[in-house]
Amino acid sequence: MNSWQTQTGSPEETRRLGELLGGLAGAGLVVLLNGDLGAGKTCFAQGVARGLGVPSGVPVTSPSYSLMNIHQGRVPFYHFDLYRLSRVDDLADLGYDEFAEGDGLTLVEWADRMTEALDASITVFIDPRAEQQRRFRFDAHDDRGRALLKQLDQHWPSSPG
Ligand SMILES: Nc1ncnc2c1ncn2[C@@H]1O[C@H](COP(=O)(O)OP(=O)(O)OP(=O)(O)O)[C@@H](O)[C@H]1O
Ligand SMILES: [Mg+2]
Repeated sequence: MNSWQTQTGSPEETRRLGELLGGLAGAGLVVLLNGDLGAGKTCFAQGVARGLGVPSGVPVTSPSYSLMNIHQGRVPFYHFDLYRLSRVDDLADLGYDEFAEGDGLTLVEWADRMTEALDASITVFIDPRAEQQRRFRFDAHDDRGRALLKQLDQHWPSSPG
């Protein structure tokens, strides 16, 4: 499955969707996350963290200033936010490649800031449709990504259009 779409009607539902992905995901997965300010990227990331087994008492926030946060779960969660980055060198300074090729799940908010430098199994685009409604589009870039989308489809009610 190369592409899969769904929608959520609340932040809680977005967290559940992220949690499903986090629960299905294994070490070494890279997920790129795009969408405007306030689209719900961090909300989705909070769910992914829970699905990875990051304890619920651990706050997962936008790494807009820190540029990256690390949380320990069943596998490590490497949470990046590239909003403030403009040069690929800045990404290298963060040691991005070592994390992305490492043993954790790497999730990158504002990945479209430098898509050409990022190699991922899945790209997620979040599109706000109304106050509480968010459209999600998942695109797979390799076999691993395609297998994951198939699993999401099996575990979550997809919706047309
Ligand atoms: N269905 C929904 N899914 C996710 N967030 C929603 C939804 N409906 C409303 N919201 C609200 O949208 C906002 C999403 O904020 P969030 O920080 O997750 O966005 P973001 O894409 O990470 O933004 P930024 O680029 O500024 O980091 C929150 O205030 C949340 O309550
Ligand atoms: Mg954010």
